[in-house]
Amino acid sequence: MTQPTLATLGQFLDQEITITVWLSNKRSSGKIHFLQVRDGSGFCQATVFKGDVTEETFATAKHLTQEQAFTLVGTVKADDRAAGGFEIGVRSLEAHAPSAGEYPITPKEHGVDFLLERRHLWLRHKRPWAILRIRDAVQTALHNFFHERGFVRFDAPFFTPSAAEGTTNLFEIDLFDEDKAYLSQSGQLYAEAGALAMGKVYTFGPTFRAEKSKTRRHLLEFWMLEPEVAPSNHVQNMDLQESMVSHVVGHVLAHCSTELGLLERDTAKLEPAAAGNFPRITYTAALEILKTEIAKQRSGEKPFPPNVPDTTDVVQWGDDFGAPHETILGHYFDRPVIIERYPAHFKAFYMQPDPQDPRLALCDDMIAPDGYGEIIGGSERIHDYELLKQRLEEHHLPLEAFEWYLDLRRFGSVPHAGYGLGLERLVAWICGIDHLREAIPFPRMLTRMYP
Ligand code: 4AD
Ligand code: MG
Repeated sequence: MTQPTLATLGQFLDQEITITVWLSNKRSSGKIHFLQVRDGSGFCQATVFKGDVTEETFATAKHLTQEQAFTLVGTVKADDRAAGGFEIGVRSLEAHAPSAGEYPITPKEHGVDFLLERRHLWLRHKRPWAILRIRDAVQTALHNFFHERGFVRFDAPFFTPSAAEGTTNLFEIDLFDEDKAYLSQSGQLYAEAGALAMGKVYTFGPTFRAEKSKTRRHLLEFWMLEPEVAPSNHVQNMDLQESMVSHVVGHVLAHCSTELGLLERDTAKLEPAAAGNFPRITYTAALEILKTEIAKQRSGEKPFPPNVPDTTDVVQWGDDFGAPHETILGHYFDRPVIIERYPAHFKAFYMQPDPQDPRLALCDDMIAPDGYGEIIGGSERIHDYELLKQRLEEHHLPLEAFEWYLDLRRFGSVPHAGYGLGLERLVAWICGIDHLREAIPFPRMLTRMYP
């Protein structure tokens, strides 16, 4: 017989169970205590009637404090009014360690800084519980998706000798006064070695970017999943991104209705993404949409979506989009939009040029709806040795550190492609939360290293 949990009470209907729980909240009258309890798997109400228990048990229940753990023996009863459909009628209970003082997070409203300072305790509450379970479901869906398609999980190192994504946001580490190393900004270059060895691989792990600006879309440490396929091309790369995201959203809709309900997420807004068929537009077409939308705002026909400053202006062809532009584009479609073929000069050194217009790269970004911004960045990779070497030089990157990477073009090079998915961005969009800090158990930001 499996141990009962609050998530599996239905299997124990009308039976007596023993279970260890924590007290979330309590309401009492003279003859009855209503205990709101949780066990990690779920939430429930346990009721202690004076007439049903010993005086000692009734007194123990009375003195339980918020977040104290206790083991109870009681009967599982069906209750239509209860959120989970069940409640527990307590026969006896035994308290575990008493609290050292007043539990700091009371049921009243607290500011997010107050809560983040106590993140180790805040994790026990319903909102983080729901978000982090969705994060887990997203990861499960991702691993299943790739393994069903014959991918091998391939682990890239966290210490690297070189920059993969530009040198402006690298964390530098001193290696015993000898050499410099950096915390990995991306596992991609190693994933490319993996793809040429195993065909289809994906890396998944923490990634570090020294982002000096405080934004709701940036963390210093975030988790990135990076598939890489050899041989492959730009179009196949976009196809894979679309199937992956619609698979993940479909999985969460099917398995996380309790969590999405707790977060009051409007699931109708996620359903189009689960259906696939993501629009694909070029950078140049995206500029046209921006021009029209900004003209409508200027003429008073249609205001900007939330979080877009009124002064937001059109970018010139050749300039990168800022967060407000991505927000406008994200709001324009009902599901993620893929923007492809950006000008190569503001993108990474390894991107294959567009054969039809070498000013462009065979790359794409996926922008989530509702202002969540870029969740994926990817491209076909340069497979020609001479061109790659030339790009490294143009980007002033030290050739010695990239000799091994150039070897991938010296021996058995083929066109190949891959992308990086930011886990917290995907989770934040699916959960409908407005800041990445809640999408990871312990966020690392410019303003937060504790706990
Ligand atoms: O677009 P990025 O920088 O692409 C790469 O790193 C490529 N090497 C990926 C590849 O082709 N294998 O980052 C990929 C994704 C972004 O789309 C975004 O979702 C996320 O990583 N990301 C961040 N998430 C949280 N905080 C940050 N500071 C992030 N920077 C990027
Ligand atoms: Mg990017």
